[in-house]
Amino acid sequence: MTDTLLNVDRHLLITGGCGFIGSNFVRFIRAQRPAWRITNLDSLTEAGNLQNLADVAVGEHYRFIKGNICDRALVERLIDECTDIVHLAAETHVDRSIMDAGPFVQTNVVGTQTILDAALKVFKARSSGRLVFASTDEVYGSLPLDTMSERFTEDSPLRPNNPYSASKAAADMMVRAYHETFALDCVVTRCCNNFGPNQFPEKVIPLFVTNLLEGHSVPLYGDGKNVRDWIHVEDYCSALLAVLERGHSGATYNVGANNERSNLELTHELLRLLGCGPEMVRHVPDRLGHDLRYAIDAGKLECELGWQAERSAWPAALERTVKWYQDNESWWRAVKSGAYKDYYKRQYGLFEGESGE
Ligand code: NAD
Ligand code: TYD
Repeated sequence: MTDTLLNVDRHLLITGGCGFIGSNFVRFIRAQRPAWRITNLDSLTEAGNLQNLADVAVGEHYRFIKGNICDRALVERLIDECTDIVHLAAETHVDRSIMDAGPFVQTNVVGTQTILDAALKVFKARSSGRLVFASTDEVYGSLPLDTMSERFTEDSPLRPNNPYSASKAAADMMVRAYHETFALDCVVTRCCNNFGPNQFPEKVIPLFVTNLLEGHSVPLYGDGKNVRDWIHVEDYCSALLAVLERGHSGATYNVGANNERSNLELTHELLRLLGCGPEMVRHVPDRLGHDLRYAIDAGKLECELGWQAERSAWPAALERTVKWYQDNESWWRAVKSGAYKDYYKRQYGLFEGESGE
């Protein structure tokens, strides 16, 4: 199958377009490639939210389909109507995968295989069509803290340590297998931790920011020394677009911003930005199997495709993100009600505000 051409009008099937990265990617494509059409397939799990797209989900270039990526007939019909796929839909939260791995295997592994089988049938018949798959840096497992110069390259071994990352590694390897076995035109990205607007507040940055805005404490796992490499979601969106248009068929690209912070550093930066003191930190038991450090070498993407992280520099990017949550209180207050409270209680043993804090 041939590499897809630049500057052609496309109709993208975006899976998981109502989630954090998906909704930012829909907005990014609407702005960068306004002639392209978008079909957004999303089953609207707790992390999926139509409100994330309230400002862009209009016009004849966009349509939303509520449905599951495991529904083969639906997926095949939609792929048949589209030119390419950006596959983002997934169960994504490590803590939830520790509570119950079942949905992670179903959506992340079986769902991805369903998309691969349908894409194989449609794209082969048509001799065109590319699948971009959002894998994660977590498939590489954990780096030690004492050799800070070491970073993951695309050739690093996959050593996932939790059910989420294991399910993503399985899907990542299935994508590879469909390229190697059937020459399906696939590109894989392995990106580091994203931050930005519309992130579901189970992830650390929106959780901590919204807790502090509510006057509640922030639950820091263990000693807080774990390190993550943080990228602004718009930089990841530009990487997804770059690999869709110009990535080599069958290639894997790391995506990172060279922006490593320990959770303690991140927490203190958020406290500073929100004018809060260290008493707002609540030390809670560590996450099971907590990976110590993720760090990405994005040199291949930079050299081959000329991509650069341009919007991730701290503290400005973090400050803009904090401001977004300050300015969009109704969004996160709605998200933090209902089923979210049950999750929070199960995870942290209490829901602040109901605990007398
Ligand atoms: P998210 O949890 O915010 O959104 C996931 C979306 O997928 C939601 O809208 C949800 O409703 C949808 N979805 C889940 N199961 C589905 C199913 N069976 N059928 C259809 N839709 C379904 O996740 P995110 O942070 O936006 O991540 C998007 C992708 O990027 C994921 O594949 C994730 O593994 C990957 N990724 C995320 C990060 C990060 O830091 N957030 C980093 C690297 C890779
Ligand atoms: P998270 O946002 O869940 O992303 P990931 O596990 O995919 O890296 O967590 C980021 C870091 O923040 C991770 O080291 C765990 C830590 N963390 C806390 O300390 N407290 C929390 O309540 C959460 C959700 C995460």
